[in-house]
Amino acid sequence: MNILILGPGAVGSLWATKFQLAGHHVSLWGRTSESELSLQLDDAPFTTYSNQSISSLQEADLILITVKAWQVESAIEPLLPHINADTIVMLMHNGMGTAEWLASKLSANPIVIATTTHGAYKPSKQQVLHTGHGYTQLGGFNAKGAQCDFLAEVMNHALPEVNWNPNINGALWIKLAINCAINPLTAIHQCKNGELAGAEFTTELVNITHELVEVMNKEEIEVEFGSLYATIMQVVNATAANYSSMRQDVFHKRRTEIDFITGYLLQAAKKHHISTPENAKLYQHIKQIEQSWTEQ
Ligand SMILES: NC(=O)c1ccc[n+]([C@@H]2O[C@H](COP(=O)([O-])OP(=O)(O)OC[C@H]3O[C@@H](n4cnc5c(N)ncnc54)[C@H](OP(=O)(O)O)[C@@H]3O)[C@@H](O)[C@H]2O)c1
Repeated sequence: MNILILGPGAVGSLWATKFQLAGHHVSLWGRTSESELSLQLDDAPFTTYSNQSISSLQEADLILITVKAWQVESAIEPLLPHINADTIVMLMHNGMGTAEWLASKLSANPIVIATTTHGAYKPSKQQVLHTGHGYTQLGGFNAKGAQCDFLAEVMNHALPEVNWNPNINGALWIKLAINCAINPLTAIHQCKNGELAGAEFTTELVNITHELVEVMNKEEIEVEFGSLYATIMQVVNATAANYSSMRQDVFHKRRTEIDFITGYLLQAAKKHHISTPENAKLYQHIKQIEQSWTEQ
């Protein structure tokens, strides 16, 4: 396939190199205007990819968007006039809320949404490290996207394990719920995920989960308190030694994805007239932290 990676950061570079090794024709669309970019996966040889090539964009069978949630609009907007109506466009980022906008801009295209638990890290512009093996779920966002289940096999060949999930919305909500519980708290307290298992966080996590369940049920996601709380605590324990992405973003004073995680939850809560004070407090706290950097 002709595959274009929009946003060759850690996740995008991991998929670019894995697709290339699987025999696909891969090109990149990064932020810099060099016509070629080189990437090295772990200690494999370097491979060179074309960058910002309009013809590659026009000929792409698949555009995989791996920018952060808040970067999606500004990254894709200038490319819209060049995207063929047959090109499959896939979003792969933490959080929710970008697919609605994308589908409104590319109403003729198949739109697919993905979530991955692989870990990737770019210690330099040209090197990407595959730091944790995970799995990837895909599903259609619109009717044409729902017909793209063949992509699971294509991607599974490049970087297993990949599954097609006809209920990707449900899977994204569960991931969002886990992120709502873990990310803001670890960012505010600048702690590892495992510290949230401490008794001092129990009341807060219970309240967060109750609010999540109420909103998710209104969004027709079947979930009950006991199972969601158990899932959240299982992730806290399984990733005890890790720092969440939001903790890392706050540590490095980078804009977080809070608007597409807790912010998305708050929007849904507002739509259903549900009060979510615990999550609203966390949202405000992270926004205040972000605000404080611009005031410095
Ligand atoms: N890293 C992981 O292990 C991991 C795991 C699971 C999920 N995720 C999620 O995956 C998403 C991507 O994460 P990441 O770690 O790969 O982030 P990242 O390294 O910051 O990658 C984003 C890339 O997009 C580029 N970009 C931003 N705006 C652009 C534009 N207008 N045009 C072209 N490129 C643009 C950035 O360029 P610059 O370098 O110039 O900023 C950067 O290279 C996030 O939602 C994250 O939460 C990450």
